[in-house]
Amino acid sequence: TQKIIIDTDPGQDDAVAILLALAAPEELDVLGIVAVAGNVPLPLTERNARIVCELAGRTDVPVYAGCDAPISRPLITAEHVHGTTGLDGPPMEEPTMPLQDKHGVDYIIDTLREEPEGTVTLCPLGPLTNIATAFQRAPDVVGRVKEIVLMGGAYFEVGNITPAAEFNIYVDPEAADVVFKSGVAITVVPLDLTHQALTSPERIRPFREMGTKVGDTIAAWTDFFERFDKEKYGSEGAPLHDPCVIAYLIDRSLMSGRHINVEIETSSELTLGMTVADWWRVTDRPANATFLKDIDTDRFFALLADRIGKL
Ligand code: BDR
Ligand code: CA
Repeated sequence: TQKIIIDTDPGQDDAVAILLALAAPEELDVLGIVAVAGNVPLPLTERNARIVCELAGRTDVPVYAGCDAPISRPLITAEHVHGTTGLDGPPMEEPTMPLQDKHGVDYIIDTLREEPEGTVTLCPLGPLTNIATAFQRAPDVVGRVKEIVLMGGAYFEVGNITPAAEFNIYVDPEAADVVFKSGVAITVVPLDLTHQALTSPERIRPFREMGTKVGDTIAAWTDFFERFDKEKYGSEGAPLHDPCVIAYLIDRSLMSGRHINVEIETSSELTLGMTVADWWRVTDRPANATFLKDIDTDRFFALLADRIGKL
């Protein structure tokens, strides 16, 4: 079993990712969930993380609130995609499980110090503010991380928040820069891959037919989440970005990519937050990340439905 900390800004796709992780107890031990400001402000992302744990019947999973703003920039949010609550779609009740008192960054630092070295995987599904802040505040924990598997960035598909940048990296490029320079083994799940993980009526039907609250909720979230991509891009469905990170941890044969150099643009106004990926290895900059690019979409959706059906 891989011990993981999920760092997240739910977000309907973050919510599905959390549910998938909680539905895979043989492969994944979710030590805790840390919320970060991103899709919506922190009070909503930590609330939404608790809603998702309650939906899964897993009020034993501790939920922490991390940073409420990027390291050195004002927060940019994505209500235009996720709605004003971040989890718009089906009506959701306010959560009753408590938020942990400890700050999310302290939780990350303490957990990495307490657990045996090289045993904890970090799964960032939002801006990298919490992870970078932990690394800056406690450099001793950097070498204790097993690996980071994150959703963020884009190269061939380029941006979804600016022409050059993907949302999670764009919101806090300084944080992303710290993480990509940290020396930790990083696997990147970029838009190039997640734009192949598109919902469709056929792929969501199994969730509608589960006859469970979780299945109904995912179907209703998808209906909401899709409307943005349908209107904006005329696509049939919406990319399930964040669940790809969890699916990869469950079955690495689902995705493939290259071990290459990836640098973060932090100064150009035009291309701020761009993940400059040396896919063709045209520089001799050392490889610092595995940049995934392709996914077996049918097997991904089959895994998702199979596991979620067990919740
Ligand atoms: C990423 O941004 C958020 O809106 C999604 O939850 C995902 O993590 C995609 O660019
Ligand atoms: Ca997210």
